[in-house]
Amino acid sequence: MSTQAFLKRQTVSSFDRGRSHTNISSKKTFSLKESVNFQQSKYILDLLFQNLVFWKTEQNNLVAFGIKYNKTLKWFHAEKTDLEALYRELHTRIFFGNISSIYESQEVIGAGASCKVYKVVNKITRYEFASKCIRKDYIFNKKNQERYNRLILEIELMKLVDHNSIVKMVDLYEGEKSYYIIMELLKGETLYQFSKKTQLNLLQIKLIMSNCLKGLCYLNFHNIIHRDLKLENLVLLEPNKVETVKIIDFGLAIPLSTPQRQICGTPGYIAPEMFIDKYPYTAKVDMFSLGVIFYRLLSRKSLFSGNNSDEILENNKKFRCNNHLKDCSNEISDLLKQMLQKDPNKRISPEQALRHPFFDDTISGDLGVADESPHEIVRAFPLIKPMQITNSNENISDNKIQVIRGSQPSFEQSIGSNYSPSFDDINKKSRNGSDHIIE
Ligand SMILES: Nc1ncnc2c1ncn2[C@@H]1O[C@H](COP(=O)(O)OP(=O)(O)OP(=O)(O)O)[C@@H](O)[C@H]1O
Ligand SMILES: [Mg+2]
Repeated sequence: MSTQAFLKRQTVSSFDRGRSHTNISSKKTFSLKESVNFQQSKYILDLLFQNLVFWKTEQNNLVAFGIKYNKTLKWFHAEKTDLEALYRELHTRIFFGNISSIYESQEVIGAGASCKVYKVVNKITRYEFASKCIRKDYIFNKKNQERYNRLILEIELMKLVDHNSIVKMVDLYEGEKSYYIIMELLKGETLYQFSKKTQLNLLQIKLIMSNCLKGLCYLNFHNIIHRDLKLENLVLLEPNKVETVKIIDFGLAIPLSTPQRQICGTPGYIAPEMFIDKYPYTAKVDMFSLGVIFYRLLSRKSLFSGNNSDEILENNKKFRCNNHLKDCSNEISDLLKQMLQKDPNKRISPEQALRHPFFDDTISGDLGVADESPHEIVRAFPLIKPMQITNSNENISDNKIQVIRGSQPSFEQSIGSNYSPSFDDINKKSRNGSDHIIE
């Protein structure tokens, strides 16, 4: 089977998973500023389910699920295997409540502008995971719903992806003060930390680049733009094993169909076309960021320098590049040049890059579509079957509730062939308090 066909099959099965839920509904209206296209909006349906589903355990086994009804939490007891099947069916489609019934929190393993990431252990399976904890006061501190919409979009897009080079989402929880995205645990360091303390050899750089390029092929195929590729958002699954590097952090990712195009990303990694007001940039922006990463891994220096992020941003905008790589091979400099092409139309695609002579056959052969993840709690659970409620403390009648969904016409890409970016048009930027910017 061709890689394309295989990827396609994966997509179909993902969408099949989303289908059986049209009866779960909500009164809440919902509109994503950065809207998703029609197909993806099927997924949003699930997260519109306002009720959290709670889990009750005894001796680390599921014994009941609970739903709040008329402000009271109603518990429904059932067989362990049925509850596990329900868990398996619902996980990542809706938020679950009371995270501490299933997960035990351990040390902080990372932090970002909007979150803390903890190592957690699933009490039932004893598998370890990472929990990205996003505080609600951060999400709701602006009058508009923008941050909430962004969080939902991050979740929706993570739900779509299933690839060896991309971190997997496992569960979603909502607490009183925070949202939690449970992911597979990446036990190694970020590439930022790792490359600081280790001089990578060429083979290691090839492995990292080929992994990331395979991840980008996959994201391209699914029409997802990551928009924040950088060393801090590449993490090793296994300590010191660069071939296990994975892309994380879909906090700024959008579907290609999103009509709006904001300047966003991290100063020093931003593609030139992003600085052009309302320019309909594409997934090629991620290739540029990966080019910056490539340069950094080769030279251990930044492509755009500066004493602070404003200066870096300014150099990034004006395309004032450093060049510390005067003696590198033709192959390297050719690939680098093609990845850092100012004109996105001339910039190399991830598929083309993987075929570049820089990569030999041994590492560019397969596109790395994921096997079933051994990390998911649900793998240990049986397939869904009709559920026997053995004891409930109240019958909830079927509530017919209407769901309002938005669908956006897909965005037409219209990039002129003789594009040449003009940075004079840039006059606005804003910060979200971190090193990455969102306009
Ligand atoms: N699955 C994971 N396993 C191990 N560590 C992780 C995992 N996910 C994130 N981290 C660590 O936590 C850090 C922050 O996570 P992430 O990049 O997702 O958040 P962020 O940068 O705050 O994103 P945003 O501000 O866009 O929400 C990462 O740089 C990494 O060190
Ligand atoms: Mg990050």
